[in-house]
Amino acid sequence: MKSILNIALFASGSGSNAQNIAEYFSQHPSLKIDSIYANKEEAFVLQRAAKLAIPAFYFPNSDFREGTVLLQKLRKRDVDIIVLAGFLLKIPPILLEAFPNRIINIHPALLPKYGGKGMFGAHVHEAVKAANESETGITIHLVNEHYDEGQILFQAQCAIEADDQVEQIAEKVHALEYAHFPHVIETFVLSMK
Ligand code: GAR
Repeated sequence: MKSILNIALFASGSGSNAQNIAEYFSQHPSLKIDSIYANKEEAFVLQRAAKLAIPAFYFPNSDFREGTVLLQKLRKRDVDIIVLAGFLLKIPPILLEAFPNRIINIHPALLPKYGGKGMFGAHVHEAVKAANESETGITIHLVNEHYDEGQILFQAQCAIEADDQVEQIAEKVHALEYAHFPHVIETFVLSMK
């Protein structure tokens, strides 16, 4: 077994989770954030990566959906695990086959509720608010061929007050993500070693 496992982070937008994860692992003895991948050239996560001095790569949606060029890059960099930290595209079969049970996603709600195609970011919080839910949370799970249906590794809840707007719900969910996601990644990946 390798002494250091390389983690690749995929993100589509701001990348605040990606930064939080990168900072958490910056001094880790056996897990390394090797590289960051974005499907949008203007995604703020690419600027965060530059500040963190982590190699970052932009691939257009077509390359992500097809997967061959991306897989070559991941192999060349000797990536062991992929973490989706706010990544909004479906993972293509070629990557699922190359990384079986090695792709982790975070979803900003309590799956199986509020998951599936089109359920990402603020859309999730809007749906939760519209349904007058009294709680929401996060789900960290392995990725399979169906959106948001892989094995659940971890969930955490937070209460929603009647006057919470979508922004407040998003803030509470982000706080849970920052508090738990790095540690859940660490526990899962170390259990594979
Ligand atoms: C996070 O809340 C994450 O759970 C969500 O996108 C946000 C990204 O925020 N992911 C999904 O909705 C996946 N379906 P960030 O860019 O600030 O980390």
